[in-house]
Amino acid sequence: MSGAEAEWRDVGPADEIAANELRGVMVKGNRICLGRAGDDLFALEDTCPHAGGSLCEGIVDGKDVICPLHAYAFEAATGHCPDDPSCSVRRFEVRVEDGVIQVRV
Ligand code: FES
Repeated sequence: MSGAEAEWRDVGPADEIAANELRGVMVKGNRICLGRAGDDLFALEDTCPHAGGSLCEGIVDGKDVICPLHAYAFEAATGHCPDDPSCSVRRFEVRVEDGVIQVRV
């Protein structure tokens, strides 16, 4: 087993993230855009590969997160960027345990 194994980390109370809200969190050195698209929580790599925009400063549009700099859309559930697939971001698993959001990093 190496120290790089993914593990679940608490990132805050689930009821603090409302529908279509975004929040930036740091988990094990990774800046993560945590949010809720409708009812669904998601966690994506925060830094947009296009030119470094911070996704948590963007907006949720339906099931997508929109980058604040040039408005590329990223699918909240997958991190896929249909505007430019080479710009897709990493997606992290997310779950709620006893009312606390956990991200697997
Ligand atoms: S930096 Fe995100 S779309 Fe350009």
